[in-house]
Amino acid sequence: MSEKNYTGVVEKAREYYNSDDADKFYYDVWGGEDIHIGLYEGPDHPIRDASQKTVEKMASCIQKIGKDSKVLDAGAGFGGAARYLAKEYGCHVVALNLSEKQNERDRQMNKEQGLDKLIDVVDGDFENLPYEDRTFDVIWSEDSFLHSGNREKVMQELHRVLKKGGELIFTDPMQSPEAKKEDLQPVLDRIHLETMGSFKFYEEQAKKLGMETIQIIDLSHQLPEHYSRVAAELKEKTDKMNHISKEYVDRMLKGLSHWVEAGRKGALNWGILHFKK
Ligand SMILES: C[S@@+](CC[C@H](N)C(=O)[O-])C[C@H]1O[C@@H](n2cnc3c(N)ncnc32)[C@H](O)[C@@H]1O
Repeated sequence: MSEKNYTGVVEKAREYYNSDDADKFYYDVWGGEDIHIGLYEGPDHPIRDASQKTVEKMASCIQKIGKDSKVLDAGAGFGGAARYLAKEYGCHVVALNLSEKQNERDRQMNKEQGLDKLIDVVDGDFENLPYEDRTFDVIWSEDSFLHSGNREKVMQELHRVLKKGGELIFTDPMQSPEAKKEDLQPVLDRIHLETMGSFKFYEEQAKKLGMETIQIIDLSHQLPEHYSRVAAELKEKTDKMNHISKEYVDRMLKGLSHWVEAGRKGALNWGILHFKK
């Protein structure tokens, strides 16, 4: 249990991402900077490069960002996006993340890349943000809100700490409106939750909070593509993965196959959601 006494679902996500196996798996298979769905441009596009494309695409959507901007990356993982934004725009980024283990790697890479003055890595929970109202110009997140058992609270918190005129941009694996329960259930079991977000859910929440939708980019076809690449890479590297337990690898391959199947059956959505306060 952490010193911060996180609630049930949050603590579960923390324990998962802090485990040795998960840490090594995400670090090795994704390439050490990102842990999110990539934008694949062809059959040989490597996971690391495709993941970087997602960051570039999202960044290109932001209307106003510069060296005076204060950015929050909510659920920052190893901090690849924070480093990209700090390098590209010279902005100040708070990389808030639940896993202390990932945060250690994040701080190390920031130091190695000379970005530690621009990036603060904070151990924390995006359901309870330790910031004053209207602190950030831009809030960014990639594939993290799916882990929350209370996404309505997450949206309220993000809205609270966003400045007036500020932008919220994120990606999230979501359930599609056509999802059949039997197709979705194996994925929900895997993330230990009863629901996922949806394009409609986030748009409604944003509207309720008085935010304007700038754009929603549906990139759902990338989801099964991505998870099948990760599974193929994991299978290919299995021999070199003997520092990760066999149980973890087997469970991961099974979990990935559920993501791929649900994605191919049209039960899942993924894309970029962009709102303004
Ligand atoms: C799939 S990873 C994505 C990481 C990063 N956004 C990226 O794109 O590389 C999900 C991340 O969400 C973080 N996370 C999950 N629940 C969280 C919470 N309640 N507060 C903060 N971070 C959380 C995990 O620690 C993990 O790093």
